[in-house]
Amino acid sequence: MSGNSSLIVFQRAEPQRLRQEALKAVPADEHDELGLKLGAGANHPRAWVGPPFVYDMIGGMQFQLLMDLGLREHHRFLDVGCGSLRLGRFALMYLLRGRYFGVEPNREILNAGVKMHFGADMADSQVIAAKAPTFTHNTDFDFSFTTGPVDYIFAQSIASHTGIDLTHRLLSSIAGAMHEESIAMVTYIRCDDPRKSNTEDGWFYPECVTYTDSKFGEMARDHELNAYRTVWPMSNIRPDGLITSQHPTILTKSEWKPSLGQRMSAALFEGVQKIN
Ligand SMILES: C[S@@+](CC[C@H](N)C(=O)[O-])C[C@H]1O[C@@H](n2cnc3c(N)ncnc32)[C@H](O)[C@@H]1O
Repeated sequence: MSGNSSLIVFQRAEPQRLRQEALKAVPADEHDELGLKLGAGANHPRAWVGPPFVYDMIGGMQFQLLMDLGLREHHRFLDVGCGSLRLGRFALMYLLRGRYFGVEPNREILNAGVKMHFGADMADSQVIAAKAPTFTHNTDFDFSFTTGPVDYIFAQSIASHTGIDLTHRLLSSIAGAMHEESIAMVTYIRCDDPRKSNTEDGWFYPECVTYTDSKFGEMARDHELNAYRTVWPMSNIRPDGLITSQHPTILTKSEWKPSLGQRMSAALFEGVQKIN
C-alpha cells in the first residue's frame, strides 16, 4: 500500500493543527472555560497537566491502554500524579467502589478537577461519595495510603519531569506497591542520543527531561522491574514549541505474559520490546 493511500499515517501528531482544530470546533464562549488558549503547565485544571486542547484525548488514551492491558472493574488502581483527573474521571467511573487511589500534591488542581468532572467539590460530590476513591497529597512518592498492593498503576507524564534521584524513588515506590502480577505503566520522553539522556537530579516542571531506553531500562532493573517499551507515543507540545512524545512503558515484576483479556487486543502489542 502506498503512503498516500494508507489509512494510518505514521507521523507524530501535529499539535499546532490540533489546537487550531479544537479552537474551531468549540464555540468561542467555551474557550476560556476549557483553557484552550493556555500553555501546558498554566494554572488551570486542564492546562496544568498538559496541552489543554488534547486534554480529552490524553485521558481517553490512558484509559484505553489500561483496558487493553486487561483492567477490570474489581482491580485496585493507583494513579500517580492524578492532577485534575484527566484519566481519573474515566477510571473512577469504571472501577468498583473503593478501588481508585490517587496521589496528587496540588490539592487545588485536584479539587478543581472533581468540580469540573463531577459537578461539585470533593466534600459534596455524589460521584465521589458513591465511588469512595482515596486521595493523598504527598510529594515523596509515598504510596502507603493504598494499604497493600494494587493491580494497575499509571504514572503519566511524571518521569518526563523527574531527575535521576526522583525517578529512582518513583520506581522504587511503584515496585513497592506491586504484587507479582501487577502491571505499571510509566511514560517518559525517549531520546536516542545518550548525550541527551538526563543526568541531573530534581523535579523539572513544566520543563521536561528525556531518557534513553537503555537508561530507563537500567533504572527499572535497579528496582527489579522488567521494562517493555510500547508503540504508543502520546504526543505533547511544550510552550517553546518542542514536540515531545511520551512513551508508555510496561513495568512488571514477573515476565509479562499477556492475560486472556490482554490477548484480545494483542494486535496493539505488536512491536512491544523488552528494554532491560
Ligand atoms: C504532567 S502532570 C500529569 C498529570 C496526570 N498524570 C495526567 O496525565 O493528567 C504531572 C502531575 O504530577 C504532579 N506532581 C508533581 N510532583 C509530584 C510528586 N512528587 N508525586 C506525584 N505527583 C506529582 C503535578 O502536580 C501534576 O499534576
